[in-house]
Amino acid sequence: MPKITIQTTVNGRSVSKDVDPSLRLLDFLREELYLTGAKEGCGAGECGTCSVFVDGVLMKSCLMPAGKAQGTTIETVEGLAERNRLTVLQQAFHKTGASQCGYCIPGMVMAATSCLRGNPHASLDEIKEHLGGNICRCTGYSKIFEAVELARDVLNGSVPATALQEDAFKDSFLGANVRRLDAPSKVTGALKYAGDMTMPGMLHLQVLRSPHAHARIVSLDTSEAERMPGVEAVVTSADVPGVDGYGVFIHDQPVLARGKVRFVGDAVAAIAAETVAQARDALEKIKVVYEELPAVFDAEEAMKPGAPLVHEGNTDNICQHIPIRKGNIEDGFAKADVILEETFRTQRVEHAYLEPEAGLAYVEPDGTVTIHSPSQNITHHRHMLAHILAMPINKVRMIMSPVGGGFGGKEDMIYQGILALAAIKSRRPVRYVFTREESILVSAKRHPFVMRLRMGLTKDGRITATHMHSISDGGAYALSTPGVMRKHCILGAGPYEIDNVRIDAYGIYTNNTPSGAFRTFGAMQSLFATESMMDMAAEKLGLDPFEIRRINAMRDGAVTHTQQKLGSVSMLQVLDTLEKGSRWQPGVPNGRGATRDDLGGPGTRAPCTLGVRLRDTSDVAAE
Ligand code: FES
Repeated sequence: MPKITIQTTVNGRSVSKDVDPSLRLLDFLREELYLTGAKEGCGAGECGTCSVFVDGVLMKSCLMPAGKAQGTTIETVEGLAERNRLTVLQQAFHKTGASQCGYCIPGMVMAATSCLRGNPHASLDEIKEHLGGNICRCTGYSKIFEAVELARDVLNGSVPATALQEDAFKDSFLGANVRRLDAPSKVTGALKYAGDMTMPGMLHLQVLRSPHAHARIVSLDTSEAERMPGVEAVVTSADVPGVDGYGVFIHDQPVLARGKVRFVGDAVAAIAAETVAQARDALEKIKVVYEELPAVFDAEEAMKPGAPLVHEGNTDNICQHIPIRKGNIEDGFAKADVILEETFRTQRVEHAYLEPEAGLAYVEPDGTVTIHSPSQNITHHRHMLAHILAMPINKVRMIMSPVGGGFGGKEDMIYQGILALAAIKSRRPVRYVFTREESILVSAKRHPFVMRLRMGLTKDGRITATHMHSISDGGAYALSTPGVMRKHCILGAGPYEIDNVRIDAYGIYTNNTPSGAFRTFGAMQSLFATESMMDMAAEKLGLDPFEIRRINAMRDGAVTHTQQKLGSVSMLQVLDTLEKGSRWQPGVPNGRGATRDDLGGPGTRAPCTLGVRLRDTSDVAAE
């Protein structure tokens, strides 16, 4: 296709480039001019991470064809700060701690700049309205709004510029305004995430993914794809030199499908080519013949005898069973005056971090394979890669690039092995950036659970026994499922001292997208069930919900149902603080004497401390 010439002014400089007419303005800025402050979060006009000014108007550059930039004046986040001096707004973002993962922040800074340029006296509601097209997954927005209000007040002179300065440091970091060291690089767009990185001679990776939930691969023919223009390497499971099975706990996941696919989106083959478009064109030339197999999508169904086996060689679909026993629940239920029984369900959840998965891999002159990626578990990934690549550990280097949101979702390794193989096979640097659709299709999700809970209590609210039976959909591969089941059980009985406890958690293989690490690592689900049951028990027994928790709360020296002796427990103080902070009214139905504004209104938070200090060395979750 003939190229078009784009002449434009970008951040005060004249630019002239011949480009492919299908290019978006976002690609033009990032790939042609290396202005990577504008990010691609969704590629669909929804998230605002790609915001730039075109002739002074805020635009989402992922939606604008590059050709339309002809003759315009463009301003990106890199052009805001003058001679490395941050703008007032950028300083305010730094001061208030408004940048966390930082991936949305260049777009936020652009939208806020647009807001204050248009109205230097914008009210909070107007600021919120103006930033309504920008999404942040980390901050909860309050720090961002605080930053924009501070900048507004400094710019219009109602507060002095000294308000932007760092607080004088006293004797402790606690309670002090401590600046993030990386904030300036985030508010200026200078920080390089993996998808922003480039190297001379770099190739682009794309992955062919399974359209079937469960199928045998009868044949895989990549010969035509290998001859496509721009293609430098085609990678399949045949290229794995080492152990083709990895995972944090169970080594059940091949780098690329080996004879079988187990969920829609399973990686089948990969192509490294000169451009993303060439790699995508070549993927279409790969011929795969599948033989579809019966699939199972429900964890309870997958446990039944005769259910399709997700991993042949196993006798059933149980990935992990964690049993916890304390005391004798039959004795405990016999002592109960009331026994409550309920089923609780939680759903699968997508992390939706704004930075999609990305990585850059290359082979160094001494043969060391280096991978940059926003991995939340690089040491483990490095060890797994050494096994996959059959290389000594000192020849595998994992570098953790800035994580543009993770929430546990970048803890399980799902693509770094493919990248490393492509770099080794092509002997060139290879970059891989997921689309948003690909990220949602294949990244690990929060485990959905079905929890059957039975709780026995005396008339005065003392729990005599609790029995939780949990079944969770772990999806096609184990990933963090064993650890999630363990944490689910460890915290499942809540911060309560109970003599008789039985908990069983089953992580089950299905043909769904794998489940993996997500904030709380399985504890949120079991605590949702237990705490809901505590409220139901309080209602049944006519007790105040705070009171029933005080009756059962662990105290100093308590022994948990996993036999951990707790030295110091502040559960009672937590309950007191919550009761006071929420202005709970005993005796009022649901205690609802308080409104949201009574609780301090938006942007403030009741003080809270951890209820139980666990000494749990078995916990592998690092979130
Ligand atoms: Fe353009 Fe999301 S709005 S990347």
